[in-house]
Amino acid sequence: MASDTHQLDTLRGEWLGRIGAAADLPALETERVAALGKQGAVTQLLKTLGAMTPEQRQTEGPRIHALREAVTEALAARKAALEAAELDRRLATETLDMTLPVDTGAQGTIHPVSQVMDELAEIFSDLGFSVATGPEIEDDWHNFTALNIPESHPARAMHDTFYFEQGETAGPAGAGAEGDRRMLLRTHTSPVQIRLMQRQELPIYAIMPGRTYRSDSDATHTPMFHQVEGLVIDRGITLGHLKWTLETFLTAFFERDDIVLRMRPSYFPFTEPSAEVDVGYHMEKGRRVLGGTEKWMELLGSGMVHPKVIANCGLDPDEWQGFAFGCGIDRLAMLKYGMDDLRAFFDGDIRWLRHYGFSALDVPTLSGGVGA
Ligand code: DAH
Repeated sequence: MASDTHQLDTLRGEWLGRIGAAADLPALETERVAALGKQGAVTQLLKTLGAMTPEQRQTEGPRIHALREAVTEALAARKAALEAAELDRRLATETLDMTLPVDTGAQGTIHPVSQVMDELAEIFSDLGFSVATGPEIEDDWHNFTALNIPESHPARAMHDTFYFEQGETAGPAGAGAEGDRRMLLRTHTSPVQIRLMQRQELPIYAIMPGRTYRSDSDATHTPMFHQVEGLVIDRGITLGHLKWTLETFLTAFFERDDIVLRMRPSYFPFTEPSAEVDVGYHMEKGRRVLGGTEKWMELLGSGMVHPKVIANCGLDPDEWQGFAFGCGIDRLAMLKYGMDDLRAFFDGDIRWLRHYGFSALDVPTLSGGVGA
């Protein structure tokens, strides 16, 4: 049963067409069996070689083998194309829905810093304060100059500032002198005070929690840490309002009635007068416990907002006064929940988080106890 060239070419066209038209992998497999399987058409053709004369075999053999080769190659090419299409389809359709409820095996916890931020928001919103945020990449003017810390001021050196390379980022044009537009990682949350006052939506009762940065690292300092700033700007605000607010805040935060504060005269460029606030504590089983007046530790800085700072934001200091305070959030968390090494806060050690973290369902409420 000799096959002429024409017949084989027709056959080849037919098979390549069928293979190319196979819509999916099972259909392609059907074609493969039909061509190359035991009873397949091409296999049958190969079998005819046995019955041929040696001369016929010499001419027909290579042609039939070439046909088998072409069919095999076409099958492989079609298979690769179908598999690639299948992968593309899966990539396009199979997504992981991150909003689905976690299964009960989930081990995540709320970090103590997040927990404390939630507690602060809860306590201060009850006092009528809003929560504001500002950029962590800040310009020199907001971080220093507007806060009455001019270029040559020694406080700048004390802040161990991370500056960006000149030209790496540039402050907004028209933001002031060249030096004022220099960009940095904010060294405190105080520049958010400036941004709030510049908006001129008065009065202001706000807290501003967030990340802050200084080039400093040991057991009590990390290059990134957290602060919360408080700001009140209104008419007729006095030091008495500041003291009451801090007492109310710290009593609610530490959930104790015996919290005693001591205000010591101090100096900050952006407040006048300025006070450092100490809180009384005592020792219980080798641990510091807040409350009482046995010993004192420094907790935060505060004062009446300097008239120059108010004027720098375009407000009239004769009409508007206020107070401000700034406090380390990590420190608050350590005191309340009894951790002693700040660096562990940022190691991301799952065992530490399981021990000190909070359940995602434990939302702090004043009625339930903010630390519950
Ligand atoms: N910004 C100060 C710091 O980081 C803390 C501070 C002190 C903030 C007094 C204030 C304040 O708002 O009134 O060291």
